[in-house]
Amino acid sequence: MSLTSPIEAGTPTSQHAQTALRFAPLTRHIGCEVEGIDLRRPVPAEAAAAMYRAWLDHAVLVFRDQDLSQEDLVRVTGIFGEFAPLGRPAHTLPKGFAKILPNIMLISNVRENGETIGALPDGEMMFHHDTIHRDDPHKATLLYSVEVPSYGGDTLFASGTGAYEALDPAMKQKLHGLRAVNFYVYNSVKRNDKQAVDATSQAVHPVVRTHDETGRKALYVNRLMSVKIEGMAEAESDTLLDFLFDHSEKPEFVYTHAWRKGDLIVWDNRCSSHARTDFPSDQRRLLLRATVKGMCRPY
Ligand SMILES: [Fe+2]
Repeated sequence: MSLTSPIEAGTPTSQHAQTALRFAPLTRHIGCEVEGIDLRRPVPAEAAAAMYRAWLDHAVLVFRDQDLSQEDLVRVTGIFGEFAPLGRPAHTLPKGFAKILPNIMLISNVRENGETIGALPDGEMMFHHDTIHRDDPHKATLLYSVEVPSYGGDTLFASGTGAYEALDPAMKQKLHGLRAVNFYVYNSVKRNDKQAVDATSQAVHPVVRTHDETGRKALYVNRLMSVKIEGMAEAESDTLLDFLFDHSEKPEFVYTHAWRKGDLIVWDNRCSSHARTDFPSDQRRLLLRATVKGMCRPY
């Protein structure tokens, strides 16, 4: 385990007695709620290490009822590694915000003067691994909810590890050594739209990714961004990918998170994918997002 941030180990305080920290798994394969910690305060090194271990075990950590500033979010991100620089759009400041820190991205459908103030504003999103279209995909993503709609906009997290381990031996053998091409395309672009395909950012990664810290194997393809198996005939590739998408998204491998204001979620992009359900377009949704650097070609 590597805790590389210079800021993860704050001064231990009586408010963070180790006995208060509790970990409650949310499903068999993925997700763990962390209770008994107020992330506004520096997290002692021992607690940070326990959180990191739980994160490796469960891929997704959920913290409820937090009240975080952007500085707090930056500090917590440091527990999981080094900040990834964001190629984020210029933000219009939402009401109540004097600034947006450089490494924080707004995810929001809020509009000011007719313009969205954040990224990924509306509607549902299919399952995907963040930045799988890059050679150096982000290791982790953190998302903190400031405003949420009264219903919808849930995030579904799928365990690539659970899905891989449930495959029969013949399928595991078939997948061995295969690589998939992954595009940065969102919803509307078809796999066979050659112009769009040529224009988009893309990267090739193993279909089964070995986690660089746990050593466990996980499916590393997703319905939104994985478009073909390298070197395989198109029809065969489509059939295999569709099977893997359907398999990965089975409810038994998925934790569904219904957001409340003040939730912080940290997920591991190396072994989990996620999706978003639709939500009412006339209700405000505003979240703060931070990302952690991965290694270039870490397998
Ligand atoms: Fe995402």
